[in-house]
Amino acid sequence: MKNTLKTAISFTKNLLTVGAFKETKPATVKEMCSKIDSSKKTKIVEFGMGHGNMTREILNSISEDSELISFEINPEFCSYVEKNINDSRLHVVNDSALNFRKYVIDEVDNFIISIPFTFLKDEDAIELVKLCFDSLTENGYYSQVVYNPKTLLKAIGDRPFEKKVVKALIKEKIYHIKN
Ligand SMILES: C[S@@+](CC[C@H](N)C(=O)[O-])C[C@H]1O[C@@H](n2cnc3c(N)ncnc32)[C@H](O)[C@@H]1O
Repeated sequence: MKNTLKTAISFTKNLLTVGAFKETKPATVKEMCSKIDSSKKTKIVEFGMGHGNMTREILNSISEDSELISFEINPEFCSYVEKNINDSRLHVVNDSALNFRKYVIDEVDNFIISIPFTFLKDEDAIELVKLCFDSLTENGYYSQVVYNPKTLLKAIGDRPFEKKVVKALIKEKIYHIKN
């Protein structure tokens, strides 16, 4: 079975936590990784790894001495990525993004986020965004793809952002917010 079909079936089976039928578009994945500085050692944190489409692009965008910590709540998705991506820079964490501070104590250069805020309580999403900005390096980037930006916009308040839109059945909206 083709990997994209396998992923679509897994996503559909877990729709209530995944929040999408299919992986995000390749153009969205590229845009999400566009703020990574590949010329220096960086620490990247990803929330919502799925089957690792964005994870692969992040690994292609970082230097050899950089580190990626990817959070995913679904243990089957974690096993899939561990089996299919063999890269010592990647650390998969099978836990919720809401608990990321248990695992990440140093500063983070980029947050790359594709978890659906729709399924989080507003106060949890807002607290998560606050903790991300507390952990970001100066000039670091918070990048998130959403279908509906309502909660994200509420969480970032008056911070300026860059927005890109990728055409899809439901438009994928990418927000970049610089610290
Ligand atoms: C829309 S999919 C995105 C998958 C992939 N990154 C992509 O862009 O196609 C969202 C992923 O986030 C995971 N997820 C949902 N809530 C989460 C949470 N609180 N913490 C970590 N992962 C979560 C889901 O299991 C799912 O794999």
